[in-house]
Parts: sequence; C-alpha cells; structure tokens
Amino acid sequence: MKTLQQTFTVSYSFPVIFTRGAFHPDNDALSGALAAAGRKTNRTLVVMDASIADADKNLLGKIERYGQRHRDILEFVDSPFFIRGGEVCKNEPAGVEKIHELTNRYHLCRHSFVLAIGGGAVLDIAGYAAATAHRGIRLIRMPTTTLSQNDAGVGVKTGINAFGRKNYLGTFTPPYAVINDFAFLDTLPERDKRAGIAEAVKVAIIKDRAFFDDLYRNRHKLAAFDADAMERMIIRCAELHMEHIGASGDPFECGSARPLDFGHWSAHKIEELTGGDVKHGEAVAMGIALDSLYSFQIGNISEIELRRIFVTLEDIGFDLYHWALGWLDIGRALREFQEHLGGDLTITLLDGIGSRVEVHEIDTALLRKCIDRLSTRKQDRRSKNDHAPEPEIRTGDSGHLLHREPRPSP
Ligand SMILES: NC(=O)c1ccc[n+]([C@@H]2O[C@H](COP(=O)([O-])OP(=O)(O)OC[C@H]3O[C@@H](n4cnc5c(N)ncnc54)[C@H](O)[C@@H]3O)[C@@H](O)[C@H]2O)c1
Ligand SMILES: [Zn+2]
Repeated sequence: MKTLQQTFTVSYSFPVIFTRGAFHPDNDALSGALAAAGRKTNRTLVVMDASIADADKNLLGKIERYGQRHRDILEFVDSPFFIRGGEVCKNEPAGVEKIHELTNRYHLCRHSFVLAIGGGAVLDIAGYAAATAHRGIRLIRMPTTTLSQNDAGVGVKTGINAFGRKNYLGTFTPPYAVINDFAFLDTLPERDKRAGIAEAVKVAIIKDRAFFDDLYRNRHKLAAFDADAMERMIIRCAELHMEHIGASGDPFECGSARPLDFGHWSAHKIEELTGGDVKHGEAVAMGIALDSLYSFQIGNISEIELRRIFVTLEDIGFDLYHWALGWLDIGRALREFQEHLGGDLTITLLDGIGSRVEVHEIDTALLRKCIDRLSTRKQDRRSKNDHAPEPEIRTGDSGHLLHREPRPSP
C-alpha cells in the first residue's frame, strides 16, 4: 500500500465596505473593488431583488449611469436580472437555473462577476448560482436588508431550500467583496428592518457582553429604527460575524459546533412550519428566547440576564412565541439540525451573557416546558401586561422562571 498525503491551505481576504449611495457616480466602493481585480474590463451580471427596484424607481437609471461613468473598469453584460425576493424564492430552483442560463449566454468566465443586490434570500440564490457556474464565478454582494448587511451578506455561505428543508443545497464560498449601502434600508418594510436586529442580539449574547449592553440601552432607538443606532448595530454585528468566521479556525464549518447558529435549530423549523410566514430574523428571536430560557433553567444564566434578553427582544418589537413552536417535534428538529451540521449533536447555549458553551445532550422534556412557558408569557402579555411597567428584579431568585407577576414556578 502507498499513501500520498495532499495538504494545502487557501487563504481568503475580502473587503466589507459600509457606505451610503453606492451607485452615486462618485462612489468608488464598487469600482474600487473591481479595480482590485487588476483587470481592465470586468464583465458583470447584475442579479437583483425585484422589491428594490419597485421601491426606488430611480435605481435602474442610477445603476446604468454608474456603469457609463465607470465603463473603463465595469461592463454590465445585460440589464439586471430580477428575482422576486423573500424566502419563497429559495424554495424553487428556477432562479438558480435562470442565472446559470445567463452566465452561459453571456459567456461569463471565472474572472467575471455576479453582482447580487438584495436581501439574504436573493444573495443566497445568486451566490449558489455563481458558486456552481464554472465551479465559481466571482460574487460581489450588495446586501439590502438589516439581516443581510449584519449577517448573511458578510458570511461565506450560499444556499437554497430543497426537500422542504432550509439551505439543503449550498456551498461554502467566500464573496469577492461586500458593499453594505445603508441607503437601501430606507425603503425596507418595518418587519424586515426589525427582523435582522435579532441576529445582533444573538451574536452579542454569545460573544460580546458590552455589545449586548449597548443593544439593551438602545433598544427603544432600535425599535424606532433610529438611523445612527441601526448603523452602529449593523457594523458591530457584521464585525463580530466576520471575526468569528475568520478567527474561529473553522470558517467552513467542518466541526460540529456552529455558535453563530445559536437559537437557529428551532428557528429553522419555525420558518419551515410556517412556510416562511415567520421571517428568518423573527424566528431567530424566538429561538434565542427559547435557548436562553433553557440556559437559565440549567443554571447557566441568571434571572436578571434572562430578563434583560427578553426585555431587549420584546422592546425592539419581537414576539417570543408562535404556534409553530408549540407544534415543534423537538426530537426531529434536533436530529435534522445535527444532520445539517454533521457529526455529534452540538447545541450552543449561553454561559452568562457574552459567552457560550456547547452541549451534546438536550433535555427535551425541559425544553417542552420552556416552550410552554413562552406561550404562557405571550398570553399574559396579551391579556394584561402589554403596557405594564417592568417590575424590579429581585436578585437571588434565579431558581424561578421569569414572569412579570409573582406566580408559582412550573
Ligand atoms: N448565507 C448565509 O450565511 C445566511 C445567513 C443568515 C441568513 N441567511 C438567509 O437570509 C434569508 C433572510 O434574509 P433577509 O432577512 O434579508 O430577508 P429576505 O431576503 O427574505 O428579504 C425580505 C424582504 O425584503 C425585500 N427587500 C429586500 N431589500 C429591500 C429594500 N431595500 N427595500 C424594500 N424591500 C426589500 C425582499 O424582496 C423580501 O420581500 C433567509 O433565507 C436566511 O436563511 C443566509
Ligand atoms: Zn440567522
């Protein structure tokens, strides 16, 4: 027997640029990113979330003028290809097939570019199509939602849904560049503006207590979508995601742990069970609440910490319970999460706010109780507590579940 051992390392580096007005003729975020490729002409296919063009009737004209102004470096091969955005577009292969047809029709080579402009769903489709044409055409992402700017757009994953399962088909493919244009958020519906804030709460509570304190302090500003608070939140959240991906030693998730998916095992099921009616970020807020409550129940965070997480999410405007949680087949959801990550079941839980622990066993009966508790809390808030002021927290009460009025513990 003879074994030859192959070993090599590939290093990646890409800029994540924050700007406003990316298609203003003088804005050099895109032209600069293309110039860095060192080629004279950069043939580029634009794939765009249709909602953005609907929301800004001047956008296509701006893109066209930008192309003319920067024609020394940028060549649009056609007018933009539109995809109807939202989760539903990830459920069907048509978008990917159409992009492949276009990359083939315009003879894009592996040094050409797909410029994807849109929410996380369109970025995922365009990214998957770009990654699989010629085994990888360069992708520049221009994320247009809170969630895609602070999380999905800065990561290294692409994907579409298949067999009724989230992100069943996909690749790990870093983008060539990411351009976050805050002006896109101006036209975003409130639900989508809010949804992405959940990812900031997620990454803060697993990695950065000071950031969580900021989010807690600024929760009312964030609820009102104050531009300054939103932009600071997006930049710090994106930075923490990037730090994790770049420095964790596992950018392509070869191990079984996936801390950035804190709260996501149930969130993905909520999205599936509701056919996308609950948005990804909204489902993540519920998943965070559930796994935080479970962390509290096993003694990993204090009642004060749990309360601060709940209050932050609720004051920003998130519901922490949906009927889909009540319907959850917990065992199956955990098995599918394990299968998607590979290897042993690994669930990230909190270990105080700002740090985390990976566990390999989950008490499903306790988890069910936590779900019931979130349901009761929602009913309580609906019936009488909606506008009641938060009562003072008594320290040393950490053996009891969080509730607004004294009530027997479960
Ligand atoms: N690849 C990754 O690493 C990764 C990470 C996190 C999430 N995701 C994926 O991202 C998706 C969620 O992304 P999302 O929260 O951005 O939502 P989304 O892409 O579903 O977009 C939400 C809605 O906003 C519209 N829209 C987008 N930008 C707009 C704008 N500027 N003005 C008006 N309307 C606009 C879209 O058309 C859509 O209707 C999920 O599919 C999730 O799985 C991927
Ligand atoms: Zn997410």
